[in-house]
Amino acid sequence: MIVARAAAVLAEHGVDTARTDAEWIVAHVAGVARSNLATDCCKVDEADVWPLVLRRANREPLAYVLGEWGFRRLILRCDARALVPRPETEQVVERAVELCNSLLQSSVRALDVGTGTGAIALALADEVGADVVAMDASEDALALARENAARLGLDVRFVGGDLRDGLPPGPFDLVVSNPPYVLPGELDALEPEVRDWEPREALVDEGQTEALVARALEVLRPGGVLLVEVHEGRAAELAATLQAVGYEGVRIGQDLAGRERMVEGRRA
Ligand SMILES: C[S@@+](CC[C@H](N)C(=O)[O-])C[C@H]1O[C@@H](n2cnc3c(N)ncnc32)[C@H](O)[C@@H]1O
Repeated sequence: MIVARAAAVLAEHGVDTARTDAEWIVAHVAGVARSNLATDCCKVDEADVWPLVLRRANREPLAYVLGEWGFRRLILRCDARALVPRPETEQVVERAVELCNSLLQSSVRALDVGTGTGAIALALADEVGADVVAMDASEDALALARENAARLGLDVRFVGGDLRDGLPPGPFDLVVSNPPYVLPGELDALEPEVRDWEPREALVDEGQTEALVARALEVLRPGGVLLVEVHEGRAAELAATLQAVGYEGVRIGQDLAGRERMVEGRRA
């Protein structure tokens, strides 16, 4: 069966998830759900499968090879213009949804800083009907995010700009962000899928998190919350920074694996 042969090629090229990735690719080409592959996939044209397998064997991220990726309830278009949305970011959205729902108001104003594919912004518009502004410094990422919004029929206002120069005018109830948080010295040790394919500006921390903490105070309403995804192992440091600049109720949140991956604080 083609899945087994494709998986063998991917394994030879060091892909850890060779079998499942082969299944994803074959199911994608066949136009069936991966879970139904065994029963639904009677015929697939191998000529359509192998180019995708070879791209994956070249360690291109599966999401780019498929051209789409699931995030929360949405299927997002994905390509090399923006970071592939991660499961830990779905947990950040989970917390953002809780925060939005805890506000006793009909509409929440939220800002997603560094929106990439638009993942966080679009999920908030979808799940809580928030009035969302999303910003990014990358015009490529913004173009992809706009395509995703249009395809999904979700209304988000996208804004270009460098967060270090300031954020779009508030007041916002929530500022949420998954900023770049890989230190330059850590880049070489990353998996080829990340290091060689995802945009460098989406990965490398060049003072964005620190700037975000200060800039968010300028656009949050009093009582509004900043929620930030952090590098594993740096949550305590970021929580201390939030406290030092005057945020209240600072807390660290965990992802599903119990790792400290988000920090939040409330503007006084
Ligand atoms: C880690 S990615 C997160 C993308 C998306 N929010 C997600 O979680 O999938 C960080 C994003 O921040 C953007 N970015 C990097 N530096 C920035 C800056 N100085 N100002 C605004 N956006 C920036 C990048 O272009 C990238 O899209």
